[in-house]
Amino acid sequence: MRIDVVSIFPEYLAALDLSLIGKARREGLLQLHVHDLRDFTADRHRTVDDTPYGGGAGMVMKPEPWALALESILAGRPAPAESGSRAARPVLIVPSPAGEVFNQALAYELAEEDHLVFACGRYEGIDERVLEWAAQAFTVRPVSLGDYVLNGGEVAVLAMVEAIGRLLPGVVGNPESLVEESHSDGLLEYPVYTKPSEWRGRGIPEVLLSGNHARIARHRRDEQLRRTAARRPDLIEALDPAGLDKADKATLEGLGYAVTPDGVRAVQASERTS
Ligand code: ADE
Repeated sequence: MRIDVVSIFPEYLAALDLSLIGKARREGLLQLHVHDLRDFTADRHRTVDDTPYGGGAGMVMKPEPWALALESILAGRPAPAESGSRAARPVLIVPSPAGEVFNQALAYELAEEDHLVFACGRYEGIDERVLEWAAQAFTVRPVSLGDYVLNGGEVAVLAMVEAIGRLLPGVVGNPESLVEESHSDGLLEYPVYTKPSEWRGRGIPEVLLSGNHARIARHRRDEQLRRTAARRPDLIEALDPAGLDKADKATLEGLGYAVTPDGVRAVQASERTS
């Protein structure tokens, strides 16, 4: 996969040289290029922002440096004949609190792409016409990390590149660890423990020492259900009942949920029989 990031703070992205993503870059699994937006300005002050039409607080990113930066990235793409097949359109991801919310499903979807370009906005955002214009050559996706406001897109890009990059084949040593983590099956991960089995007066669940793999798997699944119900009840109500076995249903009923072929819903205290 190729990733290009355009930012006025290219140094922010230096963290992508570290850890598993840095190793993936060195091994050629990920080609990551960071561009300074100011290199695409024409004035002495390398200006990237201006006042908003219509008034209001803050500054808006000027369109022309963005167009030149994105055109230079497009110019660096192999021609369709060189790449062997008709290359897919690159995806332009614009981090913004006004975007669709990033989650594990979107990370998996974006990990299938050949070429992602991230446009890091600062100030009040990028002139909207850049997104309209870019849609001629890119699939444009404004994406938010969550319902809070950052000072710019760089931190969001660090998070998204790590979440997407670790799904690329060969980046995470043991692909099993991708299966058993939070959000891979719509539930949060179960709690984990390591040696010693007794630590500062605290033990671990006995079943984990039993060697009985079926009982351990059941225990872990129940812990996932319990933890998800406590921390993210929205995820419990989004579960597909077809993916739940008898024991899952019994655990969910014990947690105050009704499971029907239509879905999972919390039972009001007044509806409960006991
Ligand atoms: N830029 C500013 N706030 C952001 C957010 N919540 N997600 C992504 N990019 C942002």
